[in-house]
Amino acid sequence: MSLLPTATVATIARHVGQRVTLAGWVYHKTEKGKLIFILLRDGSGTIQCVTFKKNVSEATFATAQALTQESSCRITGTVRADERAPGGYELDVEEVELIGASHDYPITPKEHGVEFLMAHRHLWVRSSKQHAILRIRAEVIAAAQEWLNEQGFVRFDTPILTATAAEGTTNLFATDYFDLGKAYLAQTGQLYVEAGMMAFGRVYCFGPTFRAEKSKTRRHLTEFWMIEPEVAFADHEDNMRLQEQFVSAIVARVLDRRREDLKVLERDTTMLEQVVPPFPRITYDQAIELIANHQGEVEGADPLPWGEDFGAPHETLIASKFDRPVFVERFPSAVKAFYMQPDPNRPEVALCADLLAPEGYGEIIGGSQRIHDPVLLEQRIREHGLRIEDYEWYLDLRRYGTVPHSGFGMGIERVVAWITGTRHIRETIPFPRQLYRIYP
Ligand code: 4AD
Ligand code: MG
Repeated sequence: MSLLPTATVATIARHVGQRVTLAGWVYHKTEKGKLIFILLRDGSGTIQCVTFKKNVSEATFATAQALTQESSCRITGTVRADERAPGGYELDVEEVELIGASHDYPITPKEHGVEFLMAHRHLWVRSSKQHAILRIRAEVIAAAQEWLNEQGFVRFDTPILTATAAEGTTNLFATDYFDLGKAYLAQTGQLYVEAGMMAFGRVYCFGPTFRAEKSKTRRHLTEFWMIEPEVAFADHEDNMRLQEQFVSAIVARVLDRRREDLKVLERDTTMLEQVVPPFPRITYDQAIELIANHQGEVEGADPLPWGEDFGAPHETLIASKFDRPVFVERFPSAVKAFYMQPDPNRPEVALCADLLAPEGYGEIIGGSQRIHDPVLLEQRIREHGLRIEDYEWYLDLRRYGTVPHSGFGMGIERVVAWITGTRHIRETIPFPRQLYRIYP
């Protein structure tokens, strides 16, 4: 016999007056003499199940009494609309069946330190706030992919085991690869997705990416998920236009479909409602000036000499001057990856942009126009101390029908942290991988 429920909490409104079976876990339970209130969590939501002694058998009442936090069970009863109930509905219980007991569940309603919760991440994901964050994560991913699909992009999956570096050689995870030497976990799918772009015109890859960064900031993971669109015949301006539409569509969909989760997180959505194109744009040079003019406003955002990259405090300061995400464009080529197209009017800067989220969440997108000239690309590869042999296939893309093209990478966790108002990125992925964390 199937154990599947006949209804879910999310769709309970359709069942008013009907007898249904729900299946889930006990979130909370209180007893008041002849009444037992079971707050049942089924993954789609929570509902109060009211067990009245006189309405059920003695055995059922005893089973209900014995239920503990996170015991799994099936509860059968009649759905009743009730304005006073948190979700608007309650279940009048007729039968309770225990499936799996749970004794001394480690996460109790009292406060726990974040270290404890992180060590119990496999259980913590059941809690209401974590649940809301991870649901929004799923929505962001679905929104991003569906939007790109609708715009004619083809998903083009790129390898995780790779032979080369794309985003610098200092943060590669290496592993032995049979007789072929070292393989590296992909820092980006970009180089491969460029091959896809030449085949399909508009493509994107989406998957986990890896950076062996020894940074302990609240914005860095060693394993994070990135979605990377790449477009043929698109220049730097086209690239920024695509990004602002893309990000706006994702935010709008979360506001539309995940209001309840944002409420659970007590997210003030005022700033999110303003996320519509066009986004403001400033150059790297203007950003340097802005930082100098607002010295002392954000701790650690000290003035920088031209040519240095921003730290997290600088990004926070820059973003604080705008009411929506802001592009910082045309960084010095020296601080950026080898593949970026130089500005024809000013070759020391690249046709690239970082998109900074408001409210201190930092860079959510990095993107650029790519070098399409084989000679210049080869020169850049050499200048970066990389071995030409490793990049022959990538150079081929420029030897056989090259086109100007552009693309970008959006970090899912950064976006989820911003949209959900989660200070630390570690809560935006089910199992974060960090410098000091690989368990559970
Ligand atoms: O700016 P990044 O390094 O760009 C690239 O990897 C390009 N190849 C993308 C492309 O053009 N196709 O990374 C892109 C984004 C960042 O803006 C950030 O959102 C995220 O990836 N990111 C990280 N997220 C979490 N932890 C880290 N250590 C991250 N490093 C980058
Ligand atoms: Mg970047």
